[in-house]
Amino acid sequence: MTILENISLAKYTTLGVGGAARWFVEADGDEEILAAVRFARAQGVGHFLLGGGSNLLVSDEGYSGVVIHMAKSGLAWVDEGDGFACILAGAGTEWDQVVQLAVEKNCSGIECLAGIPGSVGASPVQNIGAYGQEVSHSILNLRALDLETEKVVDISASECGFGYRRSLFNSTQKGRYAITRVVYSLKIGGAPWLEYRDVKQYFAERGGVQPSLAEVAAAVREIRARKGMLYAEDDQDSHSAGSFFKNPVVRADAVAGLAALAGCGAEEVPQYPTGDAARVKLSAAWLIERSGFTKGLAMGRAALSSKHVLAIVNRGGATAGEIVDLRDAVLDGVQARTGIRLEQEPVSLGFAPPS
Ligand code: EPU
Repeated sequence: MTILENISLAKYTTLGVGGAARWFVEADGDEEILAAVRFARAQGVGHFLLGGGSNLLVSDEGYSGVVIHMAKSGLAWVDEGDGFACILAGAGTEWDQVVQLAVEKNCSGIECLAGIPGSVGASPVQNIGAYGQEVSHSILNLRALDLETEKVVDISASECGFGYRRSLFNSTQKGRYAITRVVYSLKIGGAPWLEYRDVKQYFAERGGVQPSLAEVAAAVREIRARKGMLYAEDDQDSHSAGSFFKNPVVRADAVAGLAALAGCGAEEVPQYPTGDAARVKLSAAWLIERSGFTKGLAMGRAALSSKHVLAIVNRGGATAGEIVDLRDAVLDGVQARTGIRLEQEPVSLGFAPPS
């Protein structure tokens, strides 16, 4: 195992800000992950498991522990013979390659998750979701190293504690497991998921013919690109960590008050069901705009995306401090206007814990 020192983390993130990792390890297997964790313990510092860096905000001071870059990639497709197929993917594999393989093999379940940046290992951690699908519905199980017991464990989807952008890996058991492989279960020949408004509208405008899985995945990539949510070197709006804020879940009876504040009818407040009739999920982007933050609003070299206010963008050479200042302005502004305190979506690294 090679332990590198003082490695700048900015280039390992899509946001492109932040200082260096005191130590940095490229881990290609279980033994290297364990060795790196043991090294961190011996130094009396923490460790951090890094995937694609697409949902990560690193502080300007950097990280004083050991960053373990999960490098093991690999994809296998297995026909289970019962109308379902599994894709087995190494944690370091790029997520979009899983979607591409699924679509190529005519398997449904993750076609609407096309174009999401990041790695396979991160997909269950924040339970990635878009356009009406969440990855939790297609995960069969995953393999992880339990860093407490140093044992390999298989964890089934039902044990993962999945919720909206949530799992036990980013909540109750944060830092305990290093996910090394994920098994996705997909339906061979299944119909594409066409529930989300943007996707429905896309095909309605094109004659309303039932699209294939590949066409839906391509449409989702196009829709994401329009919103600056498809990473591209030449699209500054995509130099972000995706949605910077979670969509807040509030009591359904709060909607009328919000509508009054916004000067619109309750039916105009974008909202999504949560499975609990007493609670609705609101659109953070809508709340942000209604609180006076417009697309493209800049503070220093940090800005809200000019295509979607939910993303904070590095316009080139921004510091983490500038990102944080804009984040706090949005958090405080939305709270002052609506009474709702939004929650940050990306993981923070190298910041002092909130007091
Ligand atoms: N809206 C605005 N202003 C904007 C953009 C959107 O007011 O600048 C309002 C519109 O009313 C729109 C509504 O917000 O109808 C919802 O917007 P959108 O369809 O873009 O979805 P979102 O709720 O903002 C979520 C996910 C995205 C995911 C999309 C599509 C979160 C935090 N974000 O965004 O995920 O791609 O739905 O399913 O749940 C991510 O997590 O990084 C991410 C990009």
